[in-house]
Amino acid sequence: MYDLVLRGGDVIDGTGAPGYTADVAILDGRICEIGRIHANQAREVVDVNGLIVAPGFIDSHSHDDRYVLLEPDVPAKVTQGVTTTVTGNCGISIAPGLHGRSPPPPLDILGDSAAYQFTTFSEYLEAIDASPPSVNVYPLLGLTTLRVRELEHIERSATAAEIERMRDECDAALVAGALGVSIGTFYPPAAAADNREIASVARGLREIGGVLAVHLRDEADGIIESLDEAYALSKALGSRLVLSHHKVAGVKNHGRAAETLRSITSASNAIGIGFDVYPYAASSTMLRAKNVAISAKTVVTWSQGLPNYAGWEINAIAADLGCGIADAIARLAPAGATYHSMSQDDVDAIVCDSGSMIGSDGLPHDRCPHPRLWGTFPRIFRLYVRERPLLTLAQAIRKMTVLPAERFGIADRGRIGCGMRADVCVFDANGIADRATFELPTQPAIGIRHVLCNGQFVLRDAAPTGVRPGKRITPLECTLRRRT
Ligand code: ZN
Ligand code: CU
Repeated sequence: MYDLVLRGGDVIDGTGAPGYTADVAILDGRICEIGRIHANQAREVVDVNGLIVAPGFIDSHSHDDRYVLLEPDVPAKVTQGVTTTVTGNCGISIAPGLHGRSPPPPLDILGDSAAYQFTTFSEYLEAIDASPPSVNVYPLLGLTTLRVRELEHIERSATAAEIERMRDECDAALVAGALGVSIGTFYPPAAAADNREIASVARGLREIGGVLAVHLRDEADGIIESLDEAYALSKALGSRLVLSHHKVAGVKNHGRAAETLRSITSASNAIGIGFDVYPYAASSTMLRAKNVAISAKTVVTWSQGLPNYAGWEINAIAADLGCGIADAIARLAPAGATYHSMSQDDVDAIVCDSGSMIGSDGLPHDRCPHPRLWGTFPRIFRLYVRERPLLTLAQAIRKMTVLPAERFGIADRGRIGCGMRADVCVFDANGIADRATFELPTQPAIGIRHVLCNGQFVLRDAAPTGVRPGKRITPLECTLRRRT
């Protein structure tokens, strides 16, 4: 007797193969039969005729470390069909804690010093296990968090003693269950870290295994040099590289995606490289003069200095304050912003490249967040599959399922197949759409009918159920981890 049968949907399995009509049976959190299944074989039958039955989406790049604990129903993700979220990106993870220090930007995207309450990475993992969210969590350790925790002066490179302490922390986190590490040398607290320092700290990746996620030092003029730096680091560590939120920033760099994609493709021949992308021509991160200078438009998303300016354009703020841009930035800080700095053609080229995965890079604690937080996945279907057919449905789904599962070494998720975990997204191909905009960024997507995580409904008839069947993905379930 099966727990559930999804009857008569169009199954698109995630591999990129076209769909076929079939019933899908679920038992004990796994998919156990696909084909024609009799209604009397199941405790429950849900008719999904005319709908797409796809694997639940994997958000390849998130900052959900704290969101999954604070709002365990994870509404921004569940309403998009996401069933697994990769946390701890861009060098930023919520654990281990900062010895009571207040988090400098960009660590403050996760909250203030109270957010960094876990003494060890292991404690953070225990908190997830003790109170699971509605999605699965693939946890990464952020090396910038370690730097802020262990260095006396973050503006210089680490001393031998500091490297040793960070290495011990990194090893401990990997042993506890971090599935890899992330770095973000673009940001001031990690800018002084070179490959030698990072490779020494993350040496455990070589013996223990795990993914290396990199937010490049420079996504603008120096992007090719920064890519080379990332390839060299992954080579030194012998680890799988994932390039985060791939983009070409800066008005004067428009058109260079062809160049970066060529670089990634040729480097990939030697070392399998993953890269994720969000489908917007605007980025979002801490408020920095450097980003403002290369953007056509900058909108402040939150500010601690002057909170009332959330949602305002930076020039308008400066005018309102009667000061220059640099002054305005200083008075708003710490703050976050959205930067209109990419070309749509470059974003399209990256989204449509067969190697790219989809990742939201959503910032769940921003007061006026970038719409990618609530819109990324449905937007791909609306904008790239339906309105401008640049991708087929099967190609789009592969970027959110089988491809990230392979790149992150998630053994039994990301595909509709017998024996796989029952993470499933059922949606209407003609109706799925993002509704989050820059003006109204937290409007939930539409067109997704049901979402199952580990065989249980987390979204049913388009409404979140509040059920929390998510699991932390463990080293045993990750093929990038060495077996000893
Ligand atoms: Zn980043
Ligand atoms: Cu990020």
